[in-house]
Amino acid sequence: MTGTVQRTPDPSALPDPAELRTLMRDMRRLALTYKFGIDEVMTKIAILRDEFRHMANYNPVEHVGSRLKSFESIVAKCRRKGIPLTPADVQAQMFDVAGVRVTCSFVSDIYRVRDMLVGQADLTLLEERDYIAHPKPNGYQSLHLIVQVPVYLSDRVEQVVVEIQLRTIAMDFWASLEHKIFYKYGRQVPRHLTDSLKLAADVAAQLDASMERIHDEVRALAGDDEAVEHAEAVLTPEELLRTFWPPPDPSLDAEGRPRG
Ligand code: GTP
Ligand code: MG
Repeated sequence: MTGTVQRTPDPSALPDPAELRTLMRDMRRLALTYKFGIDEVMTKIAILRDEFRHMANYNPVEHVGSRLKSFESIVAKCRRKGIPLTPADVQAQMFDVAGVRVTCSFVSDIYRVRDMLVGQADLTLLEERDYIAHPKPNGYQSLHLIVQVPVYLSDRVEQVVVEIQLRTIAMDFWASLEHKIFYKYGRQVPRHLTDSLKLAADVAAQLDASMERIHDEVRALAGDDEAVEHAEAVLTPEELLRTFWPPPDPSLDAEGRPRG
């Protein structure tokens, strides 16, 4: 007999509808928990940002964004990494379902924000990758933190893992261009472009270093109002307090007269 071969689908290869429904329900619930994890981290960063702005008239955070990995990307990553597609396995083995990206003006701000977050009692640092101190061979720079935050649900507390990426504006600019090129060329980027990207990453790092040096110099200039405001940002609250209310001089009495 000639002609096209009729393929009858193998019913056992198709997912069981009831199982699929349960999986989708559990995954939706999981996604909601991750969304709450993002909310917790975003609130922490918003508080730090507002407090800094009010107390020190200085803003170490330029921009904050977040993303929840789509179901499609979760499935793709599970296939790629051989992770079983169950909520428990995703929770235990995939650390970037919830992502928060913090863009700072200066490299020192990145470490300042990192220290403030990591110092919080309810936030646990699970893993840290410092691609600023050790850039990737392609030139990629950022500080990655994998953290765990508690999320208080109606009947239980869930520890939610969130990936926080901290980078400067220049690093962010570079990473978004590199990402676009990477996907445009289906991961096979021509050599001249990878070379140009590496060069651009080095220039971006030099720019970050120069901007920080200029900023530090201006901040240190006495008499410049704005610079003084910025300088206050590097003082601890106690030091700041002392500039306004210096401790009493023991050689003077309560009226400020020299003790006789
Ligand atoms: P994943 O399996 O992708 O999560 O990689 P990983 O677990 O080895 O983690 P890694 O810290 O290397 O990267 C995590 C995330 O950082 C990625 O999903 C990207 O958002 C970002 N990233 C890492 N490397 C690069 C890079 O070379 N270029 C760009 N544009 N982004 C990167
Ligand atoms: Mg990862």
